[in-house]
Amino acid sequence: MDFSFSSLFKSEAKSVIGVDIGTSSIKVVQLRREKGHVILETYGAIALGPYAGVEIGRATALGAEKLAEALKDVIREANVTSKDAAIAIPYSASLVSIIKIPAAAEAQLAQVVPIEARKYIPVPISEVQLDWFVVSDAKKHTPDGKIEVLLVAIHNDTTAKFRSIGSEAALVPGFFEIEVFSAVRASLDHGLAPVAVVDLGAATTKFYVVERGLIRESHIINHGSQDLTLNAARALNITVVQAEERKRKYGLSGEGPAPAGGSLPEGQAGADLKRSFELSLSPMISELSRTITGWETRANQSLSALVLTGGGAALRGLRDLMQSKITNEIRLSDPFGKTQAPAFLEKILKEAGPEFSVAVGLALRRLQELG
Ligand SMILES: Nc1ncnc2c1ncn2[C@@H]1O[C@H](COP(=O)(O)OP(=O)(O)OP(=O)(O)O)[C@@H](O)[C@H]1O
Ligand SMILES: [Mg+2]
Repeated sequence: MDFSFSSLFKSEAKSVIGVDIGTSSIKVVQLRREKGHVILETYGAIALGPYAGVEIGRATALGAEKLAEALKDVIREANVTSKDAAIAIPYSASLVSIIKIPAAAEAQLAQVVPIEARKYIPVPISEVQLDWFVVSDAKKHTPDGKIEVLLVAIHNDTTAKFRSIGSEAALVPGFFEIEVFSAVRASLDHGLAPVAVVDLGAATTKFYVVERGLIRESHIINHGSQDLTLNAARALNITVVQAEERKRKYGLSGEGPAPAGGSLPEGQAGADLKRSFELSLSPMISELSRTITGWETRANQSLSALVLTGGGAALRGLRDLMQSKITNEIRLSDPFGKTQAPAFLEKILKEAGPEFSVAVGLALRRLQELG
């Protein structure tokens, strides 16, 4: 017979879970489709610091076992009920690159791309899962008669690691996706103009240029939100834990109490905190500016906007500070805006949104797949 037992229940709403295993925390989001709407059922995040013996907010490098333990904990704490998962692969564990293929080979990409890919991938092709998308317009070749192909490679060991974390947490992975694609899906609408998505993580900031829905360029900036915490701890002579708390509470507002036992006058501590954050952000913003200018010069067009995602984007006042230094329009990612949730949560979801972009993007695609 041509239908499976489960297809009898196809019209029944099914919940899915997006799982984003970052270096500093794991984020999960559970969505359900109902009458054409995407419903936010639950979401949650858990800091990985405590599993690695470091402070909350810091990047870690944990093995599969500890990550599975944390994933199980956040699934329980957030009351996630779905097993149907989509799991992100870290950008750093993948290779995403635009390669050029002679236009004449367009009909034989399945043969040509793996051969060309050898020039870009530092390990044997048999050890990676290879994927590609043609990004040039069908008829518009580059002046040298080539077509551009977005090459995506994930090492088999990486997929195996994330598969084992998922199954250890009793999840059934529907797919694995490099976080770039998830973040972009959750952060952008279908526009044509080139936009940059900037993911401010704990140790690094990831920068992606998206045009007509396609990723044109991506790379890593080696500055992240944990720099702010570590520098502020030193500057104000407070612990890393205290600095992290102040970062999340006061951000760039200029507020903040004097540290206990210190000799700072009232009001000085908040100003010092702000100054320290600005100093820490300065190299990241400079590098971002250079990256933007570099792309705009090469592409001979300007980026219409910058969309900030990642936990680091939640810093109070960050958007305004960046907007004062960068001419392109800057927005905060609002992934939960693509979902329906009780109205009283609106403000909280807007503020927490950037951190959950990847997890929301994964769950959205999984819902699309289930139709
Ligand atoms: N409200 C907040 N204000 C300022 N910073 C915040 C806030 N919430 C989280 N952060 C910071 O965001 C960082 C974590 O962001 P995120 O969860 O996106 O990183 P990650 O996904 O673990 O890292 P990566 O993507 O690089 O692997 C931490 O350094 C944390 O201190
Ligand atoms: Mg992340």
